[in-house]
Amino acid sequence: MSGHGDPIPMTARKSGPLRGTADVPGDKSISHRSLILGALCVGETHITGLLEGQDVLDTAHAMRAFGAEVTHHGPGEWTVNGVGVGGFAEPEQVIDCGNSGTGVRLIMGAMATSPITATFTGDASLRGRPMGRITDPIGLFGAQSYGRQGGRLPMTIVGAADPVSIRYTVPMPSAQVKSAVLLAGLNAPGQTVVIEKEATRDHTERMLAGFGAEVSVTETDEGRVITLTGQPELQPQTIVVPRDPSSAAFPVCAALIVEGSDVLVPGIGLNPTRAGLFTTLQEMGANLTFENMREAGGEPVADLRARFSPDMKGIEVPPDRAPSMIDEYPILSVVACFATGPTTMKGVKELRVKESDRIDAMARGLERCGATVDEDEDTLIVHGMGPNGLPGGATCASHLDHRIAMSFLCAGFAAQKPVSVDDAGPISTSFPIFEPLMETLGAQMVRSNA
Ligand code: S3P
Repeated sequence: MSGHGDPIPMTARKSGPLRGTADVPGDKSISHRSLILGALCVGETHITGLLEGQDVLDTAHAMRAFGAEVTHHGPGEWTVNGVGVGGFAEPEQVIDCGNSGTGVRLIMGAMATSPITATFTGDASLRGRPMGRITDPIGLFGAQSYGRQGGRLPMTIVGAADPVSIRYTVPMPSAQVKSAVLLAGLNAPGQTVVIEKEATRDHTERMLAGFGAEVSVTETDEGRVITLTGQPELQPQTIVVPRDPSSAAFPVCAALIVEGSDVLVPGIGLNPTRAGLFTTLQEMGANLTFENMREAGGEPVADLRARFSPDMKGIEVPPDRAPSMIDEYPILSVVACFATGPTTMKGVKELRVKESDRIDAMARGLERCGATVDEDEDTLIVHGMGPNGLPGGATCASHLDHRIAMSFLCAGFAAQKPVSVDDAGPISTSFPIFEPLMETLGAQMVRSNA
C-alpha cells in the first residue's frame, strides 16, 4: 500500500500503573522471511504467529504477484505454496511494498537472479530511502536496476538470466543487505559468500538452514563469513513465529517509566542479535526479569517482566551494540529522559536512513517535550531528568514512522503533561494492536490532539 489514509492524531496522558500481560504480535523480521522462503520452496509452508501488520501483508501480496499461493486461515495462521528456487513468475503489476524497507530489499534480492523484470515502489517514506545498498551487490550477480536519482524507488530490476555467485563484504551493518545477497545467492550456481564486519540479526541464516539450504557461518578476522551453496531444493517448513522483541520494547519501556507498573510480556524472541536493548536497560538499573527461558521455532524465547524503575541512571551505550538494538533507540531515548544523568548512544548513524531520520525525529520531538538533547551525525545524547522529569505538553511529528509514533506516545504515559503525535497511522505497519493492548494495561490515549 502506498501511503495511508488521513492522518490519525493521537494523545497519550499520564497514566496510572500499567499492569497485566502484554501479548505482542509476531516478529516482523521473521514474518517477512517466512513468507519469502515459503514462496521459494515447492510444497506447503505452514506459519502460525505471523505478524499481520501492513508491512508483512504487503510482502504476502508481493509473493502472490511472483506466483506463490499465499492463504490466510485465521489469526496469525497462513500457508504458502511456493514455486521453488528460481521459480518466480514475472509480476504483472508494480510491486508496492508500502512502508517496508525490509520487504522491498529482501524481495529485490530474492528475484534478482531470476530471468524476470519487476518494478517496485512504496510510500513517501520508502521512496526516500536508499536502495543503492541492494542494487550494488545484485548488480554483481548480473541484475540490472533502473531507479530514480540517488537509487530511490520507484525502481525496475531486470533479474540476471545467467547469474554468477559472488563474494561480498557488506559495507554497513545491515541485515537487510546481508539477507538480500543470500536470497539472491540461492539461485546462483556455486557458493555465495557474504562477510559482515559486525554481526547483525541472523534470522535469514537460521531460517535458510531450517529450510534445508547448505549454509555455514564462521567467525574470522575479517568478520562473520556466511557461505551459501546455491540452487538448493528448499523444503517447506512449519514455522512458529516468536513475538517481536522490537514491539515488546514499547510495553516494557512504558512499564519502566510509569509509576507502579508491573507488566509481563510472554514468549518474546530473545535472539542475541536482537536483545541489545534489554542488556542496555539492565545496565541502566531497570527492573527486568527473564522467566521461563526456552527455545521455540529455532529461536531463544522467554517471558519478560518489567516493573517501574525509578532509580535508572544514564549510561554510555557502546557502538558495537547498535546492530542488536538498532530499532530500539527511539524508545530508549524516551526511557533515557526518565533516568538520572546523560545517556550517550554512539555509532547510530544508520538511524538516519530508517523509516525516518530517527535521530532528528527523536531529538526534535523530545526537545518540544522539554528535554535537552545533543546529536551529531553518529551520536544521540539525551540528558535524563529523573523519574518525574519530562515536562511533555507538545505535539511531535511521527514522519510516517511507526516507532517514532509509539515512542512519543509512551513518553506521554509518564510525562507531566500529555504528549501528542500528529499521525499514529503508521503504527499499523508493525504493531496493529498497540492502542488496545496499551489501553488494556491501563495506558490512557485518545484519538485527537491534546
Ligand atoms: C531488519 C533489519 C534492520 C532493521 C529492520 C528489520 C531485517 O534494518 O532496522 O527493521 O528484518 O532484516 P537494516 O538492515 O537496514 O539495519
